Amino acid sequence: MRQLIAGNWKMNGLTAASAALADAILAGADSLPCDLLVCPPFTQIAALAAILRGTMVSLGAQNCHEAASGAHTGDISPEMLADVGCTAVILGHSERRQNHHETDATVHAKVLGAARASLMPVVCVGETEAQRDAGQHLAIVGGQIAGSLPENFGGVIAYEPIWAIGTGRTPTQADIEAMHCHIRASLFAHLGPAGARVRILYGGSVKPDNAAAILAIPEVGGALVGGASLDPKHFLAIAASAIGG
Ligand code: PGA
Repeated sequence: MRQLIAGNWKMNGLTAASAALADAILAGADSLPCDLLVCPPFTQIAALAAILRGTMVSLGAQNCHEAASGAHTGDISPEMLADVGCTAVILGHSERRQNHHETDATVHAKVLGAARASLMPVVCVGETEAQRDAGQHLAIVGGQIAGSLPENFGGVIAYEPIWAIGTGRTPTQADIEAMHCHIRASLFAHLGPAGARVRILYGGSVKPDNAAAILAIPEVGGALVGGASLDPKHFLAIAASAIGG
């Protein structure tokens, strides 16, 4: 499977800077050995859709509501995202689970909404440092997989240990491999043979200097990149480290 390098811009990017970042990524995107996805804030999606349309860089959002429309002040539906040119959406990021009280059940409903609108869900899972220290990390992430994914799930998983996000710290390669193998087994248990087709990204302090080592780990199907995705040189260097498939 071709690896996927996805940029999560989080709450960053005014109009001029976002267009410049998209242009710079596009300028270096030719002949990379991976699929590329950028996920800007909602306010930049329409502008980026115009820049990225017809290119090999896909466009995604960072969240959505589960319903198609209705009385949900301040929310954005999957259909609205598809309408403005998104083909993917990040769901259940730990910052949303923590700051917006999203549960596995919330994420499950949003995954169904995304599928209804033909968006590829990128579902985030990951443990806290206390859970890892207590030896609970495999059980926690297995529970998130079982609780967040419908049985016909056809998207992507991003394993992001919460203590590695934005901290410059990463798990050991052995720890990443153990978790990704555990996630693969959980996917088979939950989805049957279709579990083989789900790419499992690693996220959390992926940088140009650690990307090659992380992307070479068995069962790592790409990377979800936060901070380093805001610098086109860094994002492209990470993408150049991908293993072609
Ligand atoms: P980071 O963020 O690369 O800045 O650690 C990753 C993420 O939260 O998706």
